Amino acid sequence: MHVPDLKEARKRTKEKVVEKKVDYTFSKNFVGKKYFLRTYGCQMNMHDSEEIRKYLEMLGFTETMVLEESDLVVLNTCAIRENAHDKVFGYLGRCKHLKREKSDLLIAIGGCMAQEESVVSEIKSKHPYVDIVFGTHNINELPKLILESKKKQEIEVYSIEGDVYEGIKYSRDSNITAWVNIMYGCDKFCTYCIVPYTRGKQRSRKLEAIVAEVEELKNAGYKEVTLLGQNVNAYGKDLEYGYDFKDLLEKVAETGIERVRFVTSHPWDFTDEMINTIAKYENIMPYVHLPLQSGSDKILKQMGRRYTKEEYLTLFQKIKESIPNVSITTDIIVGFPNESESDFLETLDVVNACKFDSAFTFIYSPREGTPASLIKDTISMEEKEERLQRLNQLVNQYSLENNKKLEGKVVPVLVLGENEKDKNKIYGYTDTMKLININGSKDLIGKIVNVEIHEAKSFSLDGVVAKESVEN
Ligand code: SAH
Ligand code: SF4
Ligand code: F3S
Repeated sequence: MHVPDLKEARKRTKEKVVEKKVDYTFSKNFVGKKYFLRTYGCQMNMHDSEEIRKYLEMLGFTETMVLEESDLVVLNTCAIRENAHDKVFGYLGRCKHLKREKSDLLIAIGGCMAQEESVVSEIKSKHPYVDIVFGTHNINELPKLILESKKKQEIEVYSIEGDVYEGIKYSRDSNITAWVNIMYGCDKFCTYCIVPYTRGKQRSRKLEAIVAEVEELKNAGYKEVTLLGQNVNAYGKDLEYGYDFKDLLEKVAETGIERVRFVTSHPWDFTDEMINTIAKYENIMPYVHLPLQSGSDKILKQMGRRYTKEEYLTLFQKIKESIPNVSITTDIIVGFPNESESDFLETLDVVNACKFDSAFTFIYSPREGTPASLIKDTISMEEKEERLQRLNQLVNQYSLENNKKLEGKVVPVLVLGENEKDKNKIYGYTDTMKLININGSKDLIGKIVNVEIHEAKSFSLDGVVAKESVEN
């Protein structure tokens, strides 16, 4: 048994990361059994779930979307804010109930919550019916843990990040778009954030390995890859090979895959060369997610973001001017400890200046073990909620304004599937990452088509396929 240890998770070692291969030699012992997998959190977790799904299928399980039908429940959890915790513990209640009727049901918890010392001790003391706890550094041990699962709780979570695995097999959600990890972990230690503790130190994959994966996806018919990392702009900084995110972008674009995306950008490491590369290649999509977090220099400093309001605005402007037609979205936190009304107004000021295409907005949530959680806060929750509302109102106004500008325009869209509510419609994403519902035939799924936008809303667009638009 290994339980998470916050002190260990905080450490950063200089030791070189070792590249390893996953061992896929386990037996198919669960043919006829069903698994239910629920994923919380960010794209990284969704992608980890694609790895988890592959292991479960290789063990012989088939997927069910109905919890009550399952023989194995896997919850891939997120720890970013307290409400993510609450959701998981709420759901665990349902699983516990089910286990009373179905005593051989296996329950496994993985993901970022499993990396938290306090969560694991709560599971140990209050949720003994949970069979397996596995962390983000040992997803590949899940088959072993399931195969060896006895009637006692099995906790296997490492605090120090492990090695970088190559040759991981995935059971991907889509056969059109794919996520590709370019790096793991984060070394930024923003003072409010738990990710550096749950995901370990930054470990970049080698450029050749990433390019080979993209080539493979392209050959398998994938149209789009999204390069994943907590700070893609810091890619390569931990390696000694002298290449960076710009070099990676170039090489990935040169594979000729139709669409290249990347998340998340951090303003700190965003160089002019990177901006120029995004502008230069037609298959690198004109879309940047550039988290602001706050517009107040005082709060930015306390957050450890290492840029000022002015620096953010300068970078934003540079991206806008250099990349034609670019859309920029952001993340904003309100109610950081002791954020004053005037600090908050600075944030609104940046929103007014940038007019983001959209923004994810959050109320600050103290995370155990982070420096910010130790700051005594004098701002009431009511005030924070009121600020969030004011912010959302402004953010939504600009989303709608930006989208309205697209009415009547023709834009390239990668069609991903049928609209769930209206079977006569299909949906996809524009090059600028806007969701669009289209009157069009299902035959277009997996293709890039030109779509004329008829109506713009705050969160989506409506359009029809432009004549003679099918490119491929
Ligand atoms: N690596 C990315 C962010 C990953 S977390 C980056 O640096 O931009 C996604 C978002 O969650 C963050 O951008 C931040 O806005 C929000 N977030 C992170 N920790 C939070 C906390 N403790 N409370 C509220 N929001 C938080
Ligand atoms: Fe968290 Fe900051 Fe790292 Fe993003 S860059 S994951 S916000 S510590
Ligand atoms: Fe992602 Fe949540 Fe972990 S946002 S990295 S799953 S804490």
